[in-house]
Order: sequence, then C-alpha cells, then structure tokens
Amino acid sequence: MLTLDTSTLSTFLPDGLAPAHEAALAAQQTLRDGSGRGGDALGWRRMLLAPDRDLMERLVDVSSDIRANADVLVCIGIGGSYLGAQAVLDALNPYFGQRAAPKIVFAGHQMSGRYLDELLASLEGQSVYVNVISKSGTTLEPALAFRALRTWMAETYGPEEARKRIVATTDPKGGALRTLATDEGYTTFEIPPDVGGRFSVLTPVGLIPIGAAGHDIQALFRGAADLCRTYESQPENAAVDYASARYLLDQKGYATELLAVFEPRLKSIGAWWQQLYGESEGKEHKGLFPVSVQYSTDLHSLGQYVQEGQRNLIETFLMLKDDGGSFQAPAASDNLDGLDYLVGKTFTEINRKAYEGTLGAHVDGGVPAMTLWLDKLNATTLGEAVYFFEHAVGVSGYLLGVNPFDQPGVEAYKQRMFSLLGKPGAN
Ligand code: PA5
Repeated sequence: MLTLDTSTLSTFLPDGLAPAHEAALAAQQTLRDGSGRGGDALGWRRMLLAPDRDLMERLVDVSSDIRANADVLVCIGIGGSYLGAQAVLDALNPYFGQRAAPKIVFAGHQMSGRYLDELLASLEGQSVYVNVISKSGTTLEPALAFRALRTWMAETYGPEEARKRIVATTDPKGGALRTLATDEGYTTFEIPPDVGGRFSVLTPVGLIPIGAAGHDIQALFRGAADLCRTYESQPENAAVDYASARYLLDQKGYATELLAVFEPRLKSIGAWWQQLYGESEGKEHKGLFPVSVQYSTDLHSLGQYVQEGQRNLIETFLMLKDDGGSFQAPAASDNLDGLDYLVGKTFTEINRKAYEGTLGAHVDGGVPAMTLWLDKLNATTLGEAVYFFEHAVGVSGYLLGVNPFDQPGVEAYKQRMFSLLGKPGAN
C-alpha cells in the first residue's frame, strides 16, 4: 500500500501534524457522511464502496470491442474528461514502441485548428473509432472537435457505419451531446451526475480509453476501491496526513505546492493532480497553487528557483519503490568521461540518489518536502494513487473551508469568449 513520509517536514512543522489532527479528522468525517458543501457530489466514493458489476462488464466489453477493431481511438474531451485517462495511459504505456492496437489519441482538449487538420490527415486509411466525452455536453472545445470528427467519420465510413464507431460518454439526461447521441443512436455511457469531471477517471470517462489501450481496468478500479475501504476503517491514514501537512504549511504562508516525479511516465499524473487540486481548492482566494514538475529534467530549468527563489514553495515527491528498470551504467574501454565510479550501478539506484540529493538540498534550502511512495507502477497501484489524491483533496478542501466539488471560476473566461465570438444569448 502507498505510504507518505512526512519526517522531512520536522524543521518546518516542529510539532508535526498534531496541530491539524482534530480538524483533519473532522473534515474527513464531513467527507464520509456527505454533510459538507458539495456533499451531493460524492459519487466517486459511492461507486467505489458499492461497485456496479454490470457496468464494469459493459465497459470491459466495449473496450475489448474497440481494441479488436480499431487502429486508432480518438478520445475527445477536456479537463476532467481527458486528464485522468491520459495520466493512466502515460503511466502504463511503454515509452517506445506501440502496444498492440489501437493507438489512443486525444482531441478537443485545446482549440488548435492545425492540430485537428493534422489529426484528420493522420487518420486516413486507418480503422478509426471515436469516444466523445463531455459531462455537460456543451463544452466548446470538445463539441467543436466532435463536429469535425463526426463529419469526417460519416464521409469516410458512411453515416450508418460511422454511428457504430462512435461511443458517447455524457450526462444521463441533459446536454447537447445526450440529445445528439440519442438521435444518432450511438452507444452511450453515463457520467453519474454526482461525479465531477476531475473525479471521473474511474467512471466510463477514463475506463473506456484505458481499457481500449489494453490495460486492466478492473485492477485499476479495485486498487482505488480497496484503498477507499481501508480508509473507511482507518481514519488515521496517509491521505489525512497529506491534507494536514498541506493545511499547516498553507497557514504558515507557503503558497505553491510542487508535485515532483523522478519517473517521466508519472508526469501526466502531475497534470491530472494539478486539475484535481487547482479546481478543488483554488476558490475564495484560498488554496495552494499546484505545479507539477518532472525531475531530474526540471532541476535543470526550475531547480535554481526551487533552491534559492522565493521561500513560499512546498514540495511533494511522488516516488516508486521499484521502478521496474534494470539498465546499468555501462563500462567503457576508457574513463575519459570520468564515469567509471558508476559502472555496475543501475539507473534506478542513480535516480534514487538524485531524489535523495534533491530532497536534502531543497529541505536545507527552505522548502518543506514530503514523499508519497508507491510500491511499483501498475494498474492497481495507480488506482490507489488516484483514490489517495481524491480522498485527500476532499479532506483538504473542508479543512480550508471551501466547497471542494464545485468550480464556479471556470465560467468567467467562457462568458467573455462566447460574447467575443457572438454566441446567441451571450453578452
Ligand atoms: O472538472 C471539471 O468539471 C472540468 O474540468 C470539466 O471536466 C471540463 O470542463 C470538461 O467539462 P465537460 O465534461 O462538461 O465537457
């Protein structure tokens, strides 16, 4: 099971996490009994505590079907409707060489026309399936991309075959995508109304693309469900500690949290975490600003700032006890590069020393740091990590006194954009 090491916070929190203990347990109780703000948006816990086995079977079937018939699956969605799938796919896919088909590509997660142009060109001659994902069914980026893709699909395969190759994941009742899916007769999956976008990776939103790529979605789900049940019986847990540490440091004036990984395939977990924490906490002028970094790469760009810039950063390392690598520093016929002292050491050992060195240097430099350890990287441990961060952000949001499950601020730019674009009714 994952563990959190907060021992490296002792210089910054001399009394440990105790000052937040009672409040954190109360915040967790609020999350558990659904009595807080946003208590009607806890479906991401409900579905783990009482799994829907029929739904899981349908998800396994549809993703196997796509896997058997598609060269490419285009997943259309933005924010919570794509970041979770991308995070899990990047974590589980090999760095090089494609797994067996299909290739999963994303669209509708930005508004680059050039991207769509090049995407459509790249699809020529391939067996293409589309999974359009939008809870509201009205978000501009995916809606526009889907209009382009469904037109291309109908022109390429004919309307009837195109319809069979499109799966829509959306609200059970409302929204333009639900209307369109019903009219066209697409295969559809529901995003439960009580699950917000950023908490939806373990619903059909994330599970269809992840399953279509050939990963074990049942193990992913089980990893999360097991940790959820464990935390039900263990109120003192790592997620509460994480929320407590962040809260105490926030109160001391730290304003930014870095989530640092040393394994590049975890980088997209950082992007998913950024949304989860940014949208859940960043309201009412509160919350730590979440920034994800990939070390050692970013030590050569942001490392100077982290070591010696403004002292308002905290750092959470997301580490693997076993990274699965065995590559060793190679021997050479000469020692002109001076690297002989590393010969025989694995990159895992070298990378671990890079982590230990970075942790020590940053703590000495005034950055409170802690480490979340995953045993290894697979579907089960990723499921655990997903639930850990979701549970902790619920506790953390209630500690801060905000509603962790809404995102009212996301609307402001949309109103201005729609007005500038001349959308009927926008002003
Ligand atoms: O977390 C959220 O609610 C948002 O990031 C949404 O997921 C994102 O805006 C996409 O919304 P929708 O799925 O309604 O298209």
